[in-house]
Amino acid sequence: MEQAEIIDRINELKAKRNAVILAHYYSRPEVQDVADFVGDSLGLSQEAVKQKAKVIVFCGVHFMGESAAVLCPDKTVLMPEIDASCPMADMADVGPLREEKKKHPEASVVCYVNSSAAVKAESDICCTSANAVAVVNSLKAEEILFVPDKNLAAYVAAHTEKKIIPWEGHCPSHHQILKADVLRMKAKYPKAKFIAHPECRAEVLKLADHVASTKGMIVYAKKSESQEFIVGTECGVLHGLSKANPEKKFYCVSGYAYCPSMKMVNLEKLLDSLEKMQTVLTVPESVRVGAKRALERMLAVKGT
Ligand code: 13P
Ligand code: SF4
Repeated sequence: MEQAEIIDRINELKAKRNAVILAHYYSRPEVQDVADFVGDSLGLSQEAVKQKAKVIVFCGVHFMGESAAVLCPDKTVLMPEIDASCPMADMADVGPLREEKKKHPEASVVCYVNSSAAVKAESDICCTSANAVAVVNSLKAEEILFVPDKNLAAYVAAHTEKKIIPWEGHCPSHHQILKADVLRMKAKYPKAKFIAHPECRAEVLKLADHVASTKGMIVYAKKSESQEFIVGTECGVLHGLSKANPEKKFYCVSGYAYCPSMKMVNLEKLLDSLEKMQTVLTVPESVRVGAKRALERMLAVKGT
């Protein structure tokens, strides 16, 4: 089938099924273009809650679909690629987290949304890259066990008075962005601003003109007077950045800033998912209730 025909068929089925397509900024460009809403992790959770449609088709990785299923139990959440998992989310598990909690009984547990629903259910509150500092500062506890991203933990630690106890996890796609890559790109494009995601290493963030979530980068690039940007995150966001700012230039900081899991959904799989109404993502009720509490507590934090 030609691409145009696949897109027509997706749109027909979307109406027939009363479905809405949500996609993350790291998805394939053609998937972003067919989606009803493209967002960062915070925006996608907020959008899932607002949706009136009966079916949410989630073009992203497993934890993103899980958050939608946790927050919207009355809706059917479809994953066009159920095996798209986030390697960082897979670095935290309930058993080791319970052990760590015992070692730090005074600490509140903040878990980055890039985690399983089971880990969320074990946590006091969730955060995203857009609101991590605000979430941590909203808590009474002075000690925070921060799961699973050690780089985001270090970024938060630099922006709060609280003691942050990091988990030993990271995003491979962001961890592979090295200081030398940034310096090389800065030498090549001396007029460009460097924008970076807080999942990057601290030494990379030190070189940034602005640190933000994917959506935050798009907002910053729009407001900035600069015409060129070196982008320190997964390169899929260049599509959204260029669409929002067609007159500006964006350069991916490194060819290694690529997330294979986020590219697993293509138009064919999206169509197949709508045709067959699969794969339905479900979360056991015993886990869902706890994960919902942690997500809703995050969504209620002011300034997010
Ligand atoms: P945000 O879009 O929330 O910045 O998330 C980045 C990410 O790694 C999602 O997998
Ligand atoms: Fe996970 Fe990193 Fe891929 Fe995001 S970019 S889904 S954090 S591995």
